[in-house]
Amino acid sequence: MNKNHYFCEITEKHTYNNLTDFTVAFPDAKKICKPGQFLHILCGGNSFLRRPISICDVSENSLRFIFEIRGEGTRALAEKDEGDIVDMLAPLGHGFELSKKDENVVAIGGGIGSFPLLYAAKNCGSVKAILGFRNSDAAYDRFIDDFRKVCDVALMTDDGTAGEKGFTPQGLEKMIEEGDKPDKIITCGPMVMMEKIISIAEKNKIPCYASFEERMGCGIGTCLCCSTKIGGKMQCVCKDGPVFEF
Ligand SMILES: Cc1cc2nc3c(=O)[nH]c(=O)nc-3n(C[C@H](O)[C@H](O)[C@H](O)COP(=O)(O)OP(=O)(O)OC[C@H]3O[C@@H](n4cnc5c(N)ncnc54)[C@H](O)[C@@H]3O)c2cc1C
Ligand code: FES
Repeated sequence: MNKNHYFCEITEKHTYNNLTDFTVAFPDAKKICKPGQFLHILCGGNSFLRRPISICDVSENSLRFIFEIRGEGTRALAEKDEGDIVDMLAPLGHGFELSKKDENVVAIGGGIGSFPLLYAAKNCGSVKAILGFRNSDAAYDRFIDDFRKVCDVALMTDDGTAGEKGFTPQGLEKMIEEGDKPDKIITCGPMVMMEKIISIAEKNKIPCYASFEERMGCGIGTCLCCSTKIGGKMQCVCKDGPVFEF
């Protein structure tokens, strides 16, 4: 059997509107999983194609992932309950290279792209976060509270129903204008948001690490389904990424 193939028992389940938050038993998770890596999950139902979901957080022997119900796969996965088993390939991909030597980092997340940044933030020396969501229905309070135990979080929503009204690139620009320029940016979210973040980072000469989302097949670099042009060359998001340096 593939050494990355796990059958993990769900030990905790929480839901918030369209989001499902699972913790599963995973031996030696902290030793094995790097921030920014992902799980490739056989969701159940009629779908035989795995779905990629980011690692949100890990403890010694468990890992947590949070996902939005989008279609058939995630709907079937969300029906699972505590005690059920999740079939996953894990951990996959090239995550964020971070250590406690990384000071003055800013983690910028948009929507479901905020989830992988929690474990990433825990791996930094000092960090603050800007997290943006569509509205209060998407701004998952339990997740945001957990993030606030790690660092300062500026919460933003597109419509102002939670936190400050606006978009995360505006939050980053404001931070820089106020003289609080970060030494490193880590980001994950919608493409349009990350393009703006990468452009602000380039303009201000700040190293930026962005985690990409692409539709995936195999998840391990063999089918080329996730091949896309990044940094001027074709790259597999699953194997070369999902985190790329800019
Ligand atoms: C590396 C990686 C990490 C991810 N981490 C998370 C996570 O932590 N939490 C989370 O909620 N989601 C995450 N996703 C997205 C998640 O994989 C998709 O939402 C899921 O595969 C949808 O499957 P489905 O069967 O429910 O929907 P489908 O029926 O397959 O699709 C439903 C709709 O979503 C669109 N869609 C599906 N996948 C993607 C994608 N990758 N990019 C853009 N549009 C897509 C489809 O075009 C369709 O319109 C991640 C994706 C990648 C590549
Ligand atoms: S999903 Fe198959 S190569 Fe990336």
